Amino acid sequence: MNVSRETLVLDAHVKSELNGSGSTQCRYVPTVGKRLMADASTMRIFAVANQKGGVGKTTTTISLGAALAEQGKRVLVVDLDPQGNATTGLGVDGRRFERSVYDVLLNDVPMVDIVEPTGFNNLFVAPATLDLAGVEQELTQVISRELRLKKAISSVEGEFDYIFIDCPPSLGLITINAFAAATDIMVPVQTEFYALEGLTQLQRIVELVQKNLNPELKITKVILTMYDSRNTLSVDVAKEVRKHFEAELCKTVIPRTVRLAEAPSFGQPITVFDPTSKGAKAYRALAEEIING
Ligand SMILES: Nc1ncnc2c1ncn2[C@@H]1O[C@H](COP(=O)(O)OP(=O)(O)OP(=O)(O)O)[C@@H](O)[C@H]1O
Ligand SMILES: [Mg+2]
Repeated sequence: MNVSRETLVLDAHVKSELNGSGSTQCRYVPTVGKRLMADASTMRIFAVANQKGGVGKTTTTISLGAALAEQGKRVLVVDLDPQGNATTGLGVDGRRFERSVYDVLLNDVPMVDIVEPTGFNNLFVAPATLDLAGVEQELTQVISRELRLKKAISSVEGEFDYIFIDCPPSLGLITINAFAAATDIMVPVQTEFYALEGLTQLQRIVELVQKNLNPELKITKVILTMYDSRNTLSVDVAKEVRKHFEAELCKTVIPRTVRLAEAPSFGQPITVFDPTSKGAKAYRALAEEIING
């Protein structure tokens, strides 16, 4: 197959063609005149981060990405978590591919070479596999270890409107790579006890990255997740978060709803799994906020 990096558009039908021909590694394919994308300078790259586990990073990455894709935006989800939840949650089996974000981080493989279409229009994924679990250690020994992702992402510049990087629940080198490559940091905060715990440490790392690697980097969006308006704790936590992040806090609050928890096991984003559910509506509203700045 003739592969060109400059002229790509990947569509779901391309995936099925390639799968039909037995290929295990899908690539960008030339589709002259079919480019839909805005110019490179408007591409926003969100690192979705919080070193606290289980706060809704992956759910937000998938659901918000899908809601933006539904609006005709071209979206790439980069799965930087060895658990691979963003990959499987989008209905993609990372084990089928020869290469993954592991190779992007360690073997100088450009991002463009590992991007896969999902079954959903405008939505693409850079899959993670379990071998990513060793990367944190292995990265310590490579040159420009903090800038590997940034360099790899330059190969898809201008191809997407939004890139969402789903970070693991830690502030190690994988997350630093995400921060170095990002234009924005998005922090999902679960409305529960100790919600703000760890955010000071997160801010300190952001400042370090700002000073040394990425001067423009900022936490620009904070999102309350798993909100339950009947629970006074949720309400109190929301107030507390608003105090600390007045400008950054998104108006849209993501409710706690079982449908959001069920969607990943069907390999579908909530907007497809249950398009009229509360969760789908919330993430659509959030998508509007993101589009409007
Ligand atoms: N709004 C919600 N309502 C109900 N359940 C939710 C909601 N958001 C996320 N969940 C569920 O909570 C769990 C944790 O969410 P998720 O995996 O998105 O968090 P995470 O921050 O990515 O976790 P990790 O740190 O392990 O990567 C999952 O089982 C998910 O399905
Ligand atoms: Mg996750």
